[in-house]
Amino acid sequence: MTDKTYPPTAEFAANAHVDQAKYQEMYAASISDPDGFWRQHGQRIDWIKPYTSVKETNYAYGEVDIKWFSDGTLNVSANCIDRHLATRGDQTAIIWEPDNPDEQALHITYKELYSNTCRMANVLKDLGVTRGDRVVLYMPMIPEAAYAMLACTRIGAIHSIVFAGFSPDALANRINDSEAKVVITADEAPRGGRNTALKSNTDAALLHCSDKVKNLVVKRTGGQTTWKEGRDYDYNLLAAAASPDCEPEEMNAEDPLFILYTSGSTGKPKGVVHTSGGYLVYASMTQEYVFDYHQGDVFWCTADVGWVTGHSYIVYGPLANGATTVMFEGVPTYPDASRFWQVCEKHKVNQFYTAPTAIRALMAHGNEPVEKCDLSDLKVLGTVGEPINPEAWNWYNDVVGKGNCPIVDTWWQTETGGHLLTPLPGATTTKPGSATLPFFGIEPVILEPTSGAEINETEAEGVLCIKDSWPGQMRTVYGDHERFQQTYFSDYKGYYFTGDGCRRDADGYYWITGRVDDVINVSGHRMGTAEVESALVAHANVAESAVVGYPHDIKGQGIYAYVTLMNGVEPTEELRKELEKWVRTEIGPIAKPDLIQWAPGLPKTRSGKIMRRILRKIAENDFGALGDTSTLADPSVVDELIENRMNRS
Ligand code: WT7
Repeated sequence: MTDKTYPPTAEFAANAHVDQAKYQEMYAASISDPDGFWRQHGQRIDWIKPYTSVKETNYAYGEVDIKWFSDGTLNVSANCIDRHLATRGDQTAIIWEPDNPDEQALHITYKELYSNTCRMANVLKDLGVTRGDRVVLYMPMIPEAAYAMLACTRIGAIHSIVFAGFSPDALANRINDSEAKVVITADEAPRGGRNTALKSNTDAALLHCSDKVKNLVVKRTGGQTTWKEGRDYDYNLLAAAASPDCEPEEMNAEDPLFILYTSGSTGKPKGVVHTSGGYLVYASMTQEYVFDYHQGDVFWCTADVGWVTGHSYIVYGPLANGATTVMFEGVPTYPDASRFWQVCEKHKVNQFYTAPTAIRALMAHGNEPVEKCDLSDLKVLGTVGEPINPEAWNWYNDVVGKGNCPIVDTWWQTETGGHLLTPLPGATTTKPGSATLPFFGIEPVILEPTSGAEINETEAEGVLCIKDSWPGQMRTVYGDHERFQQTYFSDYKGYYFTGDGCRRDADGYYWITGRVDDVINVSGHRMGTAEVESALVAHANVAESAVVGYPHDIKGQGIYAYVTLMNGVEPTEELRKELEKWVRTEIGPIAKPDLIQWAPGLPKTRSGKIMRRILRKIAENDFGALGDTSTLADPSVVDELIENRMNRS
């Protein structure tokens, strides 16, 4: 580990929105008077009816209730589009870069974004979608995905995006959980030179849904699809006939904006609910300050709109700020490992935001693919999704940034709506691997895991909680407020519990150490081990399974599954392949186990509880100190598992 630190240069700080002195002053104000601070900064967006109340929040378990700007009204799409038309209608809002570099990129102006969004809104209205209805998006990374999101907000519908890499089963569960009226999809999604058949996946999903659900299909490749009259609607045909104007609905600040399903430590994925006013204030403010975005800059977040990063930092944050945002359909290594850098050069990208897993994968291809591109427009580099190892941080800094671009390591979650711990590039001295310091309004605390006591010393290690609310916070779990309280407010009373472990160093810097619950982080994607286990045991040959994470060079964590087969079933290579395929179809390719170990028995306590601590150690190939195994019902299973362990690196 390196203890070198990286202060902002005087030149960068002088031109930045916030330098160190201003950060300290604004941060202090945000904590001593949150109501006053957010009353001022809430005005960064346009309100139809201005708010008079600002912060009304209660973290008390049993009464958890979070409201911001609750008597204000607004329309989110009008904030992301209409309010820019007079000043920058002809400026590019979205640069769309297709999967195949030989296909034409698109530059969509704010005026075009307006008419395309209005057309989509009118099509949705004609399909019967009204205020409060849910619309599921299962789409490639194409401009229509952004139009669809904004069209929902324009008419007051709630979108729920399902990542296009998820399986038909996962899609069906989400359509049903939110009782969606319409699913928007495309014929196919090109990615890395291959097409995923989104329409036929949607057909398969809809077999498990109410026959009232309508399917709006956008043409992307023109690939063959089957059509069901009365259920399937051709978007391109309807949009051509639709009006390019649509009055925005006046929505309340606390009306839901979107639902996004995310994995937790138990049970089914949770529908995280974000609302309109506070979320937009927070997404736009963090986009501007954290990346030091200035008017005219080109901003590129490489995430997919199927994840929260794409919601906040491809669509809502940048567009609310009148930015030019890049939307990339492809993958980092197609056609080759220089693609990201080619796109940066081609579109003169100023702020670039990606994940450690992508950085590590590209680092493995050496410096040549980076060095052959002109990256002189880059000003700020961002990372998100998992802790970044100092080696990858240094490569990002030295080779991509040429030592000239501050790195912002942004820690946040689907639940938080926007960044909570992050450097500000003109203000914060960075340390490779640390998410550094809190954003405005965020008061992190480190608690002693078992007692829940706050550790007041500067140097501390424990679980990370947040003391009070911020505008971008999730408001509830869709349809299950009790689960919301239970998950985030019951273990440590009076705090928001993040699920992450964290260390605070002598300078007060925060270092995320990873999840403390049964959630693993695979290539920056969050996966509940319970979800993978329930997919495995749904297979007829599987009696029991336990899934844990283990260190993986590129993905951060890999998925390690212990599987106990039904009596009499032979553990064969063929069955192993079949189980991998099974999980892919049950959940999606991102959930496929990297390693499957046949486990004749699992280590259990006498009361039948699986001792995951032991399974984690074996998966990590670190079984020297397994701790106390005397409480196990049958300690001999441990030796068997060690003997046949799959990870020997
Ligand atoms: C979990 C949230 C927020 C967008 C992407 C993931 C981990 C996220 C960092 C970071 C260390 C990070 C945490 C967190 N995480 N960013 N910069 N450093 N860990 O969103 O799927 O909701 O996952 O990702 O463990 O709890 P998500």
